[in-house]
Amino acid sequence: MKRTDNCGELRKADDGNKVVLSGWVHKYRNLGGLIFLDLRDRYGITQILFDPNDLPKAAIDIANSCRNEFVVTVSGTVRIKPEPNKNLATGEIEVVADNIIIENESVTPPFNFLNGKSDAKEEVRLQYRYIDLRSDKMTNNLLIRHKICLAARNYLSEKGFIEIETPTLAKSTPEGARDYLVPSRIYPGNFFALPQSPQIYKQLLMVAGQDKYFQIARCYRDEDSRKDRQPEFTQIDIEQSFVTEEDIFSLTEGMFAYIFKQAADIDIKIPFERLTFKSAMDDYGVDKPDLRFGLKLKNISVSAKNSGFSVFANAECVKFIAVEGLENLSRKQMGEYEDYAKHLGGKGLAFTKVIGGKLDGGISKFLSGEEQKIIIDKAELSKDGIIFFAADSEDLANKILGALRNRLGGELKLFDINEYKFCWIVDFPMFEFNPDENRWQTMHHMFTMPKPEYLQDVINEVNLDKILGQLYDLVLNGVELASGSIRIHKSEFQKKIFKILGMTDAEIENKFGFMLNAFKFGAPPHGGIAPGLDRIVSIICGEESIREVIAFPKSKSQNCLMMNAPSEVDKSQLEELFIEIRKK
Ligand code: AMO
Ligand code: AMP
Repeated sequence: MKRTDNCGELRKADDGNKVVLSGWVHKYRNLGGLIFLDLRDRYGITQILFDPNDLPKAAIDIANSCRNEFVVTVSGTVRIKPEPNKNLATGEIEVVADNIIIENESVTPPFNFLNGKSDAKEEVRLQYRYIDLRSDKMTNNLLIRHKICLAARNYLSEKGFIEIETPTLAKSTPEGARDYLVPSRIYPGNFFALPQSPQIYKQLLMVAGQDKYFQIARCYRDEDSRKDRQPEFTQIDIEQSFVTEEDIFSLTEGMFAYIFKQAADIDIKIPFERLTFKSAMDDYGVDKPDLRFGLKLKNISVSAKNSGFSVFANAECVKFIAVEGLENLSRKQMGEYEDYAKHLGGKGLAFTKVIGGKLDGGISKFLSGEEQKIIIDKAELSKDGIIFFAADSEDLANKILGALRNRLGGELKLFDINEYKFCWIVDFPMFEFNPDENRWQTMHHMFTMPKPEYLQDVINEVNLDKILGQLYDLVLNGVELASGSIRIHKSEFQKKIFKILGMTDAEIENKFGFMLNAFKFGAPPHGGIAPGLDRIVSIICGEESIREVIAFPKSKSQNCLMMNAPSEVDKSQLEELFIEIRKK
């Protein structure tokens, strides 16, 4: 018996047709001798009826022996159901079976997904991922991921970009995260590194005259995983020659509009809003603001300098957020927010209520009338509420209130989950000082071109903290979706940046000599961007974690629970590589 249809496609119009279906037994019921099997595949579920009056006993016995997740093939005739099942796309019909064969049995599965979602802890789902992926939810997520990839490929191809694969056995270069290393057998003691991104390759493809490149590229970073971070993830990596920031913005905006429409029939508004890095930090405390709600941070550092409240007077920076409608917060809830601020490194979270346009309770008694007026004016509340203050370094005040703002946005449901608020963050500083290592580092990566007006400052190595780069992030609903920049394409200038970052001539030659050399052979001006595919899919699928949109992700503890990897290897394999394992 060879299947004629899938389990999701039969409708009323198929009434009377002879069909053969194959799939998994989703549900088994025996109602007084009548056996109903819900047969499931990737496309849907069809109800199959086995009637003992019409079928030989042998066939009924086989149907009766079926249990959840058995794989069967059934032949029969489509019949319109007297009462349709509104929960199924195929609910208007059922198939009256005339034969059944069991293709394979299944032991009892470790969890069920009768309601479309697996009812097990994530660890168990990951261990048995091949069962988890049978659920409606995961099947749908994989389908959307496929549609997004396809849309990206079609859009970029249409614009003249070609997909070029770059190696995963690459060279270890300092790019931000820790590398995954691969030992070489042929060159003992030497290592390949898995690329953190195809950054250098895509730039070299521009040197190679390929003009418009893209790749749905796997990237590897040995960093702690989080909901939106995996050690192994995927970027839609893009690079183009002879471009400006504006070109990359409009290309990317068009691509996102196309992807959202094709993959999820969502219309998004382009062009996207733009915020400077500085205004994002000032108003939202983070460089990836969720713009679906207000709750902007307010700065009272100037007036706080003369405050009678020593916590304010002694702080470098005092900022607050004012929240309408939280004036009845209990002491316990307040304590939880204060602990949250402390957990983020703050010393506390001062507060005052606002009742009838006046500050009330909390720290209000420490504030002069004039200070209170400044705060009330800045708070711009239209009804009663509460104000939370952070007094600390500017970075810490932003960190605490930025995180609190996001938390309150979620808890108070201040946004519509079906809204998509994209924004570009622009005018990033090129460099930031790392006090722990006592050296300058780049805000994005070290191949980024400064804005033209700062070129001379880079050459002279002055005002490094003021220099802005031609780099940009794309943010959606508080998630950093993409990063990119216009690149440096001249050897000497790139070398200058490496030097500012503290690299010696020998290090530069060893790590990047090949790149500097390539730039001497007519490297064109170029730039690009890399949207994170997993994050795009998770937002479109409404998932909190990117693990839900990756077929075989690593667990929270960075391992593969299904294959039990990483795992020990044979001694002989290590010997071939001249590697000895030291006891911990
Ligand atoms: P960046 O490091 O900012 O830039 O990465 C670009 C985008 O990739 C996604 N991303 C991740 N997704 C899941 N798990 C991770 N661990 C992870 N790390 C990053 C994010 C991020 O915005 N070569 C440059 C791009 C360029 O300049 O063209 C780069 O890799 O969505
Ligand atoms: P204290 O004077 O330490 O009892 O603090 C008075 C109030 O100010 C408490 O609500 C603290 O949580 C809060 N507080 C203390 N230090 C800070 C700070 N650096 N930033 C914000 N609030 C603070």
